[in-house]
Amino acid sequence: MPEPQPWLRGRVAIVTGAGKGIGRATAEAIARAGAHVVLAARTASHLDELAQKIHDAGGGATAVPADVSRSDDVERLFELASRIGPPTALVCAAAVLYKAPFEETVLEIWDQTLRVNLTGTYLCCRAAFAPMRRAGGGRIVNLASLSGVYATEKFPGLAAYNVSKFGVIGLTEAIAVEGRPHGIVAISISPGAVDTEMLRRANPQLRAGLTPAQVAALIVSMVNGPIVPASGANIPLFSNA
Ligand SMILES: NC(=O)c1ccc[n+]([C@@H]2O[C@H](COP(=O)([O-])OP(=O)(O)OC[C@H]3O[C@@H](n4cnc5c(N)ncnc54)[C@H](OP(=O)(O)O)[C@@H]3O)[C@@H](O)[C@H]2O)c1
Repeated sequence: MPEPQPWLRGRVAIVTGAGKGIGRATAEAIARAGAHVVLAARTASHLDELAQKIHDAGGGATAVPADVSRSDDVERLFELASRIGPPTALVCAAAVLYKAPFEETVLEIWDQTLRVNLTGTYLCCRAAFAPMRRAGGGRIVNLASLSGVYATEKFPGLAAYNVSKFGVIGLTEAIAVEGRPHGIVAISISPGAVDTEMLRRANPQLRAGLTPAQVAALIVSMVNGPIVPASGANIPLFSNA
């Protein structure tokens, strides 16, 4: 029997939050797996630099500056990606974290956090749904967090962030239910402390147990195989140490 072809090869994959940290490492790993990766974040210079690095390594990448909390930006992102080919892989890593004690979590912090982390993920997943359905299937990975998982250790100052991540896990399960008849698989990944700028802002004392490259490798290993873990699952990811 011939070996099944790696799933990502020749596909178009959109990665949000691709400018830094986990999103950037995931975009690089997806490009190495042979997909054309569409890079989204707000800071164009980060995306241009990464696209160049991927091209220099022989891969395919397109930078599309976009704010995932804006529906017009998300529409434009998917429209541009679709010109390259149907976007049948999506990794939603874009997120913000504003640390504030609960009493000082003003409505602006609450709204902005949910708007980027949860609404942004919803907008991207919804935009991906039709092209994936038309293509006969697709694979979605949403970055949640251990801090969005019931009964794990929580840290002060992160009420809005934690709630947004609980939401991402619920959203992913809902998408999995409606995606099943169309071959659309959605999973969420909930890492603990990963060595990125976000972690350093959130909790400078916390020792990172994971690197962005390790999380990226897990994402690619799950998306690139002939089958994917149970759709709707949330995969907690503890330190390897
Ligand atoms: N680091 C950890 O310990 C950890 C643990 C668990 C889960 N996570 C999750 O993993 C994901 C990646 O985190 P990270 O640590 O790699 O974060 P990071 O280093 O802060 O990178 C976040 C990325 O998201 C982009 N972004 C932020 N707001 C955006 C918006 N409105 N529209 C589009 N892009 C936006 C940022 O670029 P611009 O600012 O240029 O837009 C940046 O490229 C997040 O969902 C995070 O919640 C991280």
